[in-house]
Amino acid sequence: MSIKNEFIPVYQPQLSGRERQYVGQCFDSSWISSKGEFVTRFEREFAAYLNIRHATTVSNGTVALHLALKTLGIGPDDEVIVPTLTYIASVNAIAYVGATPVFVDSEESSWNIDPGKITAKISQKTKAILAVHLYGAPCDMDSISDVCREHNLFLIEDAAEAFGTKYRGQYAGSFGDISTFSFFGNKTITTGEGGMVVSNRQALIERAVYLKSQAVSLTREYWHDEIGFNFRMTNICAAIGVAQLEHADKILPKKRELADWYRADLAGTSLVFQADSQDAMNSYWMVSILAKDAIERDHIRQHLKNNNIETRPLFYPAHTMPAFKTEDTYPVAESLSSRGLNLPSYPGLTREQVAQITSKIIEVI
Ligand SMILES: Cc1ncc(COP(=O)(O)O)c(C=O)c1O
Repeated sequence: MSIKNEFIPVYQPQLSGRERQYVGQCFDSSWISSKGEFVTRFEREFAAYLNIRHATTVSNGTVALHLALKTLGIGPDDEVIVPTLTYIASVNAIAYVGATPVFVDSEESSWNIDPGKITAKISQKTKAILAVHLYGAPCDMDSISDVCREHNLFLIEDAAEAFGTKYRGQYAGSFGDISTFSFFGNKTITTGEGGMVVSNRQALIERAVYLKSQAVSLTREYWHDEIGFNFRMTNICAAIGVAQLEHADKILPKKRELADWYRADLAGTSLVFQADSQDAMNSYWMVSILAKDAIERDHIRQHLKNNNIETRPLFYPAHTMPAFKTEDTYPVAESLSSRGLNLPSYPGLTREQVAQITSKIIEVI
C-alpha cells in the first residue's frame, strides 16, 4: 500500500502574528465596518513600510485598479498600454472605465512588459502605461518611466503581486503616479480580501479617497457631486493587515530563501527561472519556472499533482480571452504562458518539502 504524502498547496497565508488579537479588538470595540483605528493605522504603516507618502485602503486589488484609473480621469476614448501577460483584473479595470487596453508583449527574462515594444503602441489617445510586476519580479522601471516622461503619459503600477519587490533599491509601487496592491488570501501579505492605492501625490490620494467613498461632499451631508463608489475596506480586514505588516520582515526573506532552495535543487536542469538580480529584486510572490514546452510543463504539473503537490499555470495572455480577443500575436507572452508554472511558494514551506517537490520535478524532465 502506498502512503500519499501530505498535500502541499501552492499557497497558504501565514496568520501566526497578532491577526486574531487585532480582529478581536474590532469585535470588542464594535468597530467592524470601514471606520476604525486599524484602517488609518494600516494605511499609515503600509505607506511608511514602502516609503511612499500616501496610501488609502480599498476592498480588493481589482477595485484598487479601477479607482486608480478613475482618479487619473481615464475614460472613454482613452487608451491604456498594458502587458497582455497579466492577471485579467489589470485589463478588466481599463474596460470598467470605458478605456481601451492596448497590449504589449513581454520580455523573455522578467516576463514583464517589454519596454522596447511600448513606443510603437503609443497613439494620440494613449493616456497611461499600466506596468504589472508579475509574480514578484519588477518591471524595467527606468525604461518605462523614460517612455512616460517622453510621451507625457501617466505611470500606473499594478503591484498586486509585488509587495516587497525592489527595483534599484526602491520599492515597487513607489515609482508610479499612482499604484495598487492586492491583499487577497494568497498574496505576500493578506487581509483576506483587500487592496491599497498609493501615491506620492497628495491630490491624487485625496481624489481617490473621495471617489472610493461615494463622492460625498466634504461640506454637505448626503450630497454627492458626482458618481462615486463604495470601495472601502473594513476595520476587520485592516486589523489583519496591520498584523501582517508586523511580520513582513520575516515573510519576505523567507520567500527569497525558498527561491534559493528551488534554484539550488534545479540548477543544471533545463528549467528556467524568472529573472532576479541585485537591481531588479524579485520578492517571489510565486516562485515560477519555464519548461521546454507546453508538453513538458503539463507533465511536470500532472506528476506533482499525482504526488499531492499543487501548482498553477502562468496566466493566459489577455489578448486570447473572449472579451479582449485580437488577431495580433504576442509571441513571447504566448510562449511563456504555455511553458510556465508557479511552484508552491508559501513562507511555511520547509527545506524538506522543497526538496520533495524538486525531486519529483526532476523525475519527469
Ligand atoms: C496582477 C494582479 N492585478 C490585480 C489583481 C486583483 O486583485 P484582487 O484579487 O485583490 O481583486 C491581482 C490578483 O490576484 C493580480 O494578480
